[in-house]
Amino acid sequence: MNMRNIIRLLSLGLCLSWPVYIFGSPEDDRIAFQAYFQARFPDVPISEYVNGIYALDENAREQWEQIEEFPPYEFAVENGELLFNRPFANGSTYSECFDNQGPGVRQLYPRFDAERGEVITLELAINLCREVNGESAYSYNSDELNSLSAYMAWTSRGNKIDVVIPNDPGALAAYESGKQFYYSKRGQLNFACSDCHVISAGLYVRADHLSASLGHPSHFPVYRSKFGKMISLHSRFYGCVRDVRAKPFEEQSVEYRNLEYFLTYMSNGLIVNGPGARK
Ligand code: HEC
Repeated sequence: MNMRNIIRLLSLGLCLSWPVYIFGSPEDDRIAFQAYFQARFPDVPISEYVNGIYALDENAREQWEQIEEFPPYEFAVENGELLFNRPFANGSTYSECFDNQGPGVRQLYPRFDAERGEVITLELAINLCREVNGESAYSYNSDELNSLSAYMAWTSRGNKIDVVIPNDPGALAAYESGKQFYYSKRGQLNFACSDCHVISAGLYVRADHLSASLGHPSHFPVYRSKFGKMISLHSRFYGCVRDVRAKPFEEQSVEYRNLEYFLTYMSNGLIVNGPGARK
C-alpha cells in the first residue's frame, strides 16, 4: 500500500465527522470545497471569497472599502519593487530565478519541486534565489521579504490561482499532509481549521466574525492595522494555531508549506488580489 492510500485510510476516520466530505483526488476535493460554500451562502458569488470576511460581513466591508481607498500596503509594494530590481553583489537579479522574470507569477505558488521533493512557496523561492546568488536569506517575518512578496502579488493581481499537483507520489503526499493538518483537531481548545473556517464561517466566535478558508491565500501578504505592518500567510497560520493553544510551527516549516499547498489548491480558479488590508 502506498503512502497516499495509508494517509487516505487514516483520514477516513476523521472524515466521518467532517462537514465537507472531501475524500478523493485533489480536484474532487476542490470541487466539493467550493460547492460547500456555494450551497451554504448561495448569495455570495465564489469570486467574492478572495475578500475574506468582507465577502460575508457587509458592515465591516464598508470600513474596509474606505481603507482600500488609501491602501496601507502601497509602501510595501513600492519598496518591494525597489528591492526586486536591485542587483545582488554578484550582479544578477531576482528576475533570473522566476518565470516571466518575476512579475505576474504569484498564482503559480506554492509549487512542488520534484527534484527537491518539497513544496516551494513564493517566500521560500525568494530566499532560495538569494542564497544561490551568494546573499543571506531574509527572516520570514522581515519587512524586506513581505515587501518582495507584496510586489510580486501586486503584479499578479487578477491572475487566476493555478496551483498544480503533479502526478508524483511526493506531491500527492505533501497535499494529503496539508489536508490532514487542516482537518485535524489540535491544541487545548481542540479545534481544527475547518471548525472555524468551514463549519463556523460567517458566525461569531466571541467578538470575532469568521471568514471562509476559500480564498484565504489570494490576498497575502496583508497589512494588519492591529500590528501596523505587513504579515505573511504563515504568520496567520502561526497565530491561529497559537490561538487554539497548540504549539505553532515556524513560518515556512514543512507543515505550513504543505498546508498552504492544500489550501491554495482549494482556491484554484479564484484570482490573486494581494496584497490585502485587514484589521
Ligand atoms: C478558534 C477559531 C479559529 C481556528 C480554529 C482557526 N482560525 Fe484562522 N482565524 C480565526 C479568526 C477569528 C480570524 C480573523 C477573522 C477572519 O478573517 O476570519 C482568522 C483568520 C485567519 C486567516 C486570515 C484571513 C484573511 O482574510 O486575512 C487565515 C489565513 C487563517 N485564519 C487560517 C487558519 C488556519 C490555516 C487554521 C488552522 C491551522 C485556522 N485559521 C484556525 C479563527 C480561527
